[in-house]
Amino acid sequence: MKVLIVGSGGREHAIVASVAKSSQVDKIYCAPGNAGIAGVAECVDIQAMEFDRLADFAQENEIGLTIIGMDDPLVGGIVDVFEERGLRVFGPRKNAAIIEGSKAFSKDLMKKYGIPTAAYENFDTPEVALAYLETAKMPIVLKADGLALGKGVLICNTLEEAKAGVKTLMLDKQFGDAGKRIVIEEFITGPEVSVLCYCDGTHIKPMTSAQDHKRAKDNDEGLNTGGMGTFSPTPFYDKEIQKFCEEKVFQPTMDAMKAEGRDFVGILFVGLMLTSDGPKVLEYNARFGDPEAQVVLPRMKNDIVDVMNACIDGKLEEIDLQFEDNAAVCVVLASDGYPEHYEKGKVITGFENFEGREGYYVFHAGTKFEGDKIVTNGGRVLGVTAKGGDLKEARKNAYAATEWITFENKYMRNDIGKAIDQVNN
Ligand code: AMP
Ligand code: GLY
Repeated sequence: MKVLIVGSGGREHAIVASVAKSSQVDKIYCAPGNAGIAGVAECVDIQAMEFDRLADFAQENEIGLTIIGMDDPLVGGIVDVFEERGLRVFGPRKNAAIIEGSKAFSKDLMKKYGIPTAAYENFDTPEVALAYLETAKMPIVLKADGLALGKGVLICNTLEEAKAGVKTLMLDKQFGDAGKRIVIEEFITGPEVSVLCYCDGTHIKPMTSAQDHKRAKDNDEGLNTGGMGTFSPTPFYDKEIQKFCEEKVFQPTMDAMKAEGRDFVGILFVGLMLTSDGPKVLEYNARFGDPEAQVVLPRMKNDIVDVMNACIDGKLEEIDLQFEDNAAVCVVLASDGYPEHYEKGKVITGFENFEGREGYYVFHAGTKFEGDKIVTNGGRVLGVTAKGGDLKEARKNAYAATEWITFENKYMRNDIGKAIDQVNN
């Protein structure tokens, strides 16, 4: 079978690597892909938002399965375009991807169906939002309704900051139309957990847990980023919490989407905060997390093509989802200055150190070829993942492997997975 993956980041590289392990697959394409993906798949020069060109390519090349990695095309309705042409595609339709595309929609859904989440109000005009803030308790959280590359969330400690935040989102429109409407949400605290789940419209099967590190600097300081590193599983997500989430969050979300006529097929990413009042949903995404995929997929034992086909066919119940009894850590190597100003085009060396090394991976996020050299081409450049018998060993291995790669202005956090030291496991 031929498989096409749509996207160009570390997440798509991890998906491509997982698909490459399937015995049913003899050819992989990735659009547009990157320099690392080019080592495993044939990269196709079509951008993720060019739905008709992608569907033409899938038709002409007899692609048996297309996997959509990124949020923008999903929210924009790429799955509907493929389905109208009779093409097999993995991901939610536009009417279901809205669970990520609109935070106001997802908050209203949770409220309507009693799914635990932080208290909130939605606002369409800055005047009403500003008036509401006058009596609100600080800190408080402002969220742009639409997609904003994970950067449309502002945690405000004072009334002044919150007012300035409303201006940034709604008046200065820093995130464009994503900020036309905002959610103002109660500030909650606790460890964060990402649980990625396979869904077939009716059934939902959670994968092993992971934790991201969103801030740019050590000790969770600095600006929010797309994610600076992950580990899996997280010891904070124990059996009891897992049971609670399965009964009160995951299945109720599937049922709620079905009741709304928005059957969800694909990956539902549930971002949770484990508060003293119990787990609460921070956000939903309609695709694999990045860099969560880089620690979860290497630990999955199943053939990913089987699992995705079962989702499309409504037969997820027949799949016995299994993960290795070990751990993985991913450290993102970024360009110094990310997520603000940084330079690109720096030559990267050391990839050969990963060759033939079982349990070590270098996933490309922002790279490209310049002649026969691979150069940096983004803020997040690479995700170095290593497995280990437990989290401590995986962390040691991952940090050792970060030393194998060299490029000018290489930057990473030094405390990925450090939170696990607080937990006795
Ligand atoms: P989101 O994109 O909604 O997951 O938000 C990005 C990050 O902001 C989360 O990973 C949290 O660290 C933080 N955050 C979001 N909502 C809240 C909240 N209600 N209280 C505290 N922190 C939050
Ligand atoms: N790592 C967070 C995300 O993919 O949205």
